[in-house]
Amino acid sequence: MERVLVTGGGGYIGTTVVPMLLEAGFAVRVLDRYFFGEDLLPEPSDQLELVKQDNRRIGIEHFANVDYVIDLAAVSNDPSGELFQQATWQINHLARVHTANLAKEAGVKRYVLPSSCSIYGFQEQGVICTEKSEINPLTTYAKANGSAERGVLPLADERFTAVVLRQSTVYGLSPRMRLDLAINGMTYGAWETGKLPLLRDGTQWRPMVHVRDTAAAQIFMLTAPADKVSGQIFNVGSEENNYQLGPLAEIIADTIPKDIEIEWYGEPDHRSYQVNFDKIESLGWKAKRNAKDATLEIYEALESEKLSKTSKTITLQWYQELVKWREVIRKVEMYDGIMEI
Ligand SMILES: NC(=O)c1ccc[n+]([C@@H]2O[C@H](COP(=O)([O-])OP(=O)(O)OC[C@H]3O[C@@H](n4cnc5c(N)ncnc54)[C@H](O)[C@@H]3O)[C@@H](O)[C@H]2O)c1
Repeated sequence: MERVLVTGGGGYIGTTVVPMLLEAGFAVRVLDRYFFGEDLLPEPSDQLELVKQDNRRIGIEHFANVDYVIDLAAVSNDPSGELFQQATWQINHLARVHTANLAKEAGVKRYVLPSSCSIYGFQEQGVICTEKSEINPLTTYAKANGSAERGVLPLADERFTAVVLRQSTVYGLSPRMRLDLAINGMTYGAWETGKLPLLRDGTQWRPMVHVRDTAAAQIFMLTAPADKVSGQIFNVGSEENNYQLGPLAEIIADTIPKDIEIEWYGEPDHRSYQVNFDKIESLGWKAKRNAKDATLEIYEALESEKLSKTSKTITLQWYQELVKWREVIRKVEMYDGIMEI
């Protein structure tokens, strides 16, 4: 059985891609801090190994019998990246380049870096970004992704395949649910209050991709012909999923079987980009889902109480709580305990 090391496998994309890899017949080793809990993944088995480790301390031993790496571990959005800037550079840039170097040294066949289309940043109206377009990363998170890409791609050679996937903003249900992503958050807000929160001014373009589609693209890249993908960057998404946020909000509002009003919030968002997906589609990969599919699945999960909003579903809020409670606990803890010592 071929083995895939999935760093960050306990996250939003990870908890979707790991079961899909198991289903596809791969053995999986997850390496994660499990900031969102270990219980979101299937039970460990002969096919699934769960390693608790920080990617900044990853060692050559973690690559034993590994054929492929999908390197998802990261501080995963702009606000968290701004709050934890130093950690973001370490985790998202340095540790991922180190992971790719170790993978190559250990004889791993392929390394996939799930990067982000947010590195295109603001672009002039009408510009459609291809993988050859000039990038314009505006945030620490996006800049660290750019640096990781530049560190990883030159490692590609005839023995070692390195691939960058620039993922669109992801949406859809996953065991580690994120309600801080555009479609998911809009659907939740609309369901909860009848008011759909829409980030001003609604004209900004944002490419989107369903979480099971981006997971499928990562798996696709493990076996796509090396001569076509090695050392290459691929945008992941689809033309159908290039949304302008205003019209996207209308789609979501129309899909939810309730009366929904639009409620504007925030300062005008300068991150706006349209993306071209011809390159990945020319290999035979295609996204299968759209915003309507996700709105319905999230709505149904909320209605049936399979999903609820907790601070764990808002990445920044959860990291802030962990930092706060660590301080609180450190002050009162004695002899390795609180009440029981
Ligand atoms: N979700 C999106 O819309 C989107 C879009 C484009 C790119 N991406 C990228 O995909 C990757 C995964 O995103 P996600 O949405 O699943 O994020 P997530 O926050 O849900 O998952 C990240 C996982 O990494 C783990 N982690 C964080 N720091 C770690 C460390 N130092 N060592 C070990 N584990 C660590 C966390 O515990 C978590 O399980 C990230 O690189 C993200 O930037 C996500």
